[in-house]
Amino acid sequence: MRGIILAGGTGSRLHPLTRVTNKHLLPVYDKPMIYHPLETLKSLGLKDILIVTGGESLGDMMNLLGSGTDQGIRLTYKIQDKARGIADALLCAEDYCRNDGKVAVILGDNIFDPLKFPSEVAKDNDAYIFLKEVQDPERFGVANFNEKNEIIGIEEKPKTPKSNFAVTGLYIYPSDVFEFIKTLQPSKRGELEITDVNNHYLKNKKLKAVKVEGHWSDAGTFPSLLRASLIKAGIANGSLYDEKVIDLIHKLNKTQ
Ligand code: DAU
Repeated sequence: MRGIILAGGTGSRLHPLTRVTNKHLLPVYDKPMIYHPLETLKSLGLKDILIVTGGESLGDMMNLLGSGTDQGIRLTYKIQDKARGIADALLCAEDYCRNDGKVAVILGDNIFDPLKFPSEVAKDNDAYIFLKEVQDPERFGVANFNEKNEIIGIEEKPKTPKSNFAVTGLYIYPSDVFEFIKTLQPSKRGELEITDVNNHYLKNKKLKAVKVEGHWSDAGTFPSLLRASLIKAGIANGSLYDEKVIDLIHKLNKTQ
């Protein structure tokens, strides 16, 4: 299976930090952000990894990560010309994935504790999403469940979420995903939405959902960027309001 890291987009929610720097090069604790999704894919056993990013950041990304040989992996790079959405960024990987079975996709701003894929992933031809219970589901794709606890729909950033389960930015898709993306229309915000891709597999009874056990955070807003660093520093419990975090902030305030 090949791995894809989607590291394009504008990072506008982190201005001015991202005015001249790609979001995925900002520090998350002790490393540039992109190292963390790369570690996640490596820990899942993937060795062939494509990084999709905006043209203006490609040089920096390549200077930072190189060919991957020193890490025992093979890195390839591809440009997404315009930030037209996550599914559009994934479509940039079509040639790279040709004839290579399923593909594992991770968003470049998603920070996970080490993960394991369920064993069926290699055997079936289904898509997989990974869910995490959160306190602020309205910021994410949110899974809706029926009384049997089966997923019946995914809503992108709902105003009134029907559950607290966010769809994290890790996905596994069968190779037909690219053909489906080509049929998608842009959403109201002008993007090809990954939630539409997930709902397509759900409608066709080819979507499996796995709950993430460890910590998870995105890192695309100021609070979540801080939380991602705290998770990687081993002091956050997935919540910014964790007591240890509050203690830490008090300590930092005293020493400044
Ligand atoms: O973090 C998980 C969430 O990520 C999911 O729950 C949502 O369903 C999904 O839509 C996404 O929501 P965000 O609003 O956080 O996505 P954002 O626009 O911040 O993009 C996340 C990453 O995707 C970003 O770090 C780089 C990549 N991306 C995004 C866009 C819009 C691209 O590579 N190209 C793009 O055009």
